Amino acid sequence: MQVIILPTPKDVALHAANKVVDVIIKKTRPVLGLATGSTPIALYNELVCRHQAGRLSFKSIRTFNLDEYIGIDEDHKQSYRSFMNRYLFDLVDIDLTNTHVPAATSLDPDVLNHNAVLYDAKISAAGGIDLQILGIGTNGHIGFNEPTSSFSSRTRIKTLSESTIAANKRFFMADEFQPYLAITMGIGTILESREILLMATGKEKASAVKDMIEGPLSSMCPASILQQHEKAIIILDEEAASSLTLKEYYLWCETKRQQLHKGNCV
Ligand code: GLP
Repeated sequence: MQVIILPTPKDVALHAANKVVDVIIKKTRPVLGLATGSTPIALYNELVCRHQAGRLSFKSIRTFNLDEYIGIDEDHKQSYRSFMNRYLFDLVDIDLTNTHVPAATSLDPDVLNHNAVLYDAKISAAGGIDLQILGIGTNGHIGFNEPTSSFSSRTRIKTLSESTIAANKRFFMADEFQPYLAITMGIGTILESREILLMATGKEKASAVKDMIEGPLSSMCPASILQQHEKAIIILDEEAASSLTLKEYYLWCETKRQQLHKGNCV
């Protein structure tokens, strides 16, 4: 794991945007894994700004989102499809047919299961994901892989935990149906990505971040499995990093890594 600690959420978004652009320019037909939630919004804003400034095109990019709610339509304001259209896809030159979000509008479990299996097949057919963007839930979930999810799980239906439903309540109106089921990429699916970039900001993520980076590998903190990924970058703001025991060491490593890159290591 490469742990990068930066002063503010804005710095986290800028650093993440640089990493996304690095991947995009190195590949002819890049495949990005995308996340929703409030954390990646600043990253998407930055990518949109770079596109509007003529510095970034999404024409060759294919995307796969982590998850989608079951029980609301695609055009519902809180569906992850509309989230992605609103914050990224409608604002850049991406071909919408190259964007994928799990198909979760059916209420038939057989159809949903079939869609989930098909989703993994589509990712494979695209050649796999080059860079997967992740956020983290306060209970350590990634995508909607809640605590006790299998580390080798594939894309499937998951029941959301009470704490996740409570955390996401803020997005729904008081009298509105709030989904408690979702289709999510499995942890095994996520781990197949060639690189992973997880962002976390704010004090409320500090405990999950500590469990992810310094805790034991445990399905009680699904994100802890990222310790086993060969190329996982964790970008944190000061608050999200505030409970880390080895915080000074991670800061030291980054300083030294930058010196090495500048050819200035002795
Ligand atoms: C949802 C998403 C996750 C996201 C999490 C945290 O549960 N399925 O992918 O990481 O929310 O969201 P936020 O960034 O709003 O804290």
